[in-house]
Amino acid sequence: MSADGLLPSAHPGPQGARRGTVDAERGGRSEPALLQVAGLVKRFGALVATDGVSLQVSPGEIHALIGPTGAGKTTLAAQLSGHLRPDAGRVIFAGADVTTLSTHRCVARGLARSILITRLFKSFSVRENLAPSVQARSGSSLAFWRLVAAETALAEEADAPLLRLGIAHQVDALASALSHSEQRVLEIGLALATRPRLLLGEPMAGVGPGESQRLVALIDSLRHEVAILLVEHDMDAVFRLADCITVLVNGTVVASGPPASIRQDPQVIAAYLGDDLGSSLRGGPSAGAGDG
Ligand SMILES: Nc1ncnc2c1ncn2[C@@H]1O[C@H](COP(=O)(O)OP(=O)(O)OP(=O)(O)O)[C@@H](O)[C@H]1O
Ligand SMILES: [Mg+2]
Repeated sequence: MSADGLLPSAHPGPQGARRGTVDAERGGRSEPALLQVAGLVKRFGALVATDGVSLQVSPGEIHALIGPTGAGKTTLAAQLSGHLRPDAGRVIFAGADVTTLSTHRCVARGLARSILITRLFKSFSVRENLAPSVQARSGSSLAFWRLVAAETALAEEADAPLLRLGIAHQVDALASALSHSEQRVLEIGLALATRPRLLLGEPMAGVGPGESQRLVALIDSLRHEVAILLVEHDMDAVFRLADCITVLVNGTVVASGPPASIRQDPQVIAAYLGDDLGSSLRGGPSAGAGDG
């Protein structure tokens, strides 16, 4: 286990633990990407939700995926995690082709997307909620999580993320008793319990401004340890957190790069012009918090 007891040696965050990786990748392309997406296409009838999307996430990088409503962000995330099968294109994770792998197999390889959708079992305790994630990491789809939770070793393993996330005192509380943001924190815990190398999700979706601060701080604290592909509408959060931003419009990537270049990209500004996101991108009140 790592010093904080969260990320075990099985996935030592090999590259991700080194901050320099992202810069090295951007500058000299010296280290291979952890996630490589090439030409991903998903059609819903006549609608092309993702239209040849390519992007790369480096080890340890916080990569934000942004774009207007209906741009294809959720559809892309669902393809990356194995929830939706692409019609064309490839997804390479840690050097292996995972394009057609099921969600379970993605998780077993260290690609966790569980913060995208709420999947807490509200009438179960916090620890019982975590047990299947621990189980999933071992490659099994065993669903008898109460039994799993009763196994001491697995239960202890499930507790480690809770300590880190600051909800260890609620381990026996029902998930339904947690606040909205605590439930989101627990969802991140579910993902972390699978010992991911890449977290994929929309953790701040539906969370109020005050509560999202806690989640931003939590995600920031995971920097260096795990790569994160963050689907996010909140530009404050994006510009505070992201090492790299990919902008999707109508299923197509219009820009990808560090926050400073995204903010000045004419196509991005055009895509967001006239709304709040545009003001953030152009350097509105909250912009620029973290891209220095
Ligand atoms: N299961 C589906 N069947 C048909 N159309 C779909 C389906 N899922 C998504 N779409 C359509 O695909 C397009 C992309 O949707 P998607 O939800 O991926 O966008 P998004 O960028 O996540 O949007 P938002 O910012 O609103 O969350 C939209 O036009 C949407 O209506
Ligand atoms: Mg969406």
